[in-house]
Amino acid sequence: MAKNIYYLFLALGIFNSLTTSVIAVETVTISLFATDLNKCDDLSKCDAYVEILCVTSLSDGRECGKTKYIKNDNFPVWPEEFTFTNTSTEIFRRWQLKVLDHDDFFDDHIATVIVPFADFIAGTETQRHYKLDLGGRGSLYVTRVRSS
Ligand SMILES: *[C@@H]1O[C@H](CO)[C@@H](O)[C@H](O)[C@H]1NC(C)=O
Repeated sequence: MAKNIYYLFLALGIFNSLTTSVIAVETVTISLFATDLNKCDDLSKCDAYVEILCVTSLSDGRECGKTKYIKNDNFPVWPEEFTFTNTSTEIFRRWQLKVLDHDDFFDDHIATVIVPFADFIAGTETQRHYKLDLGGRGSLYVTRVRSS
């Protein structure tokens, strides 16, 4: 009995190391777009942009990217591409994406969402766009442009 359990764990261990070596991703390039943004201004549409914070094994959340704002558009497609690396020296854990509305005096916060790196990598194998709900303020999509 004990021996069988030992073999079971051995088999699981081998399976686990095989699957992780297959899916390990070292670089990923993303881009961003949003749909149905709303409630920004009374007289115009949103002037939205996204700030990216990176949480890794070495950092609790440093700013690691920012789009320009797109004026008067509730369906912004930001042209920027951002590349991130995930290595054994700095393991990438998640993005924190802050969607803001540009204003001449004071930028308004629309929503902040979290994207765990592993979920993003797993979720986009058949689906290139990772969708995030902005709590009634629209949706943000993270597109996997390429990865290796
Ligand atoms: C990130 O890199 C680590 C270390 O190489 C690896 O174990 C992990 O599977 C990678 N993460 C993803 C989602 O590929």
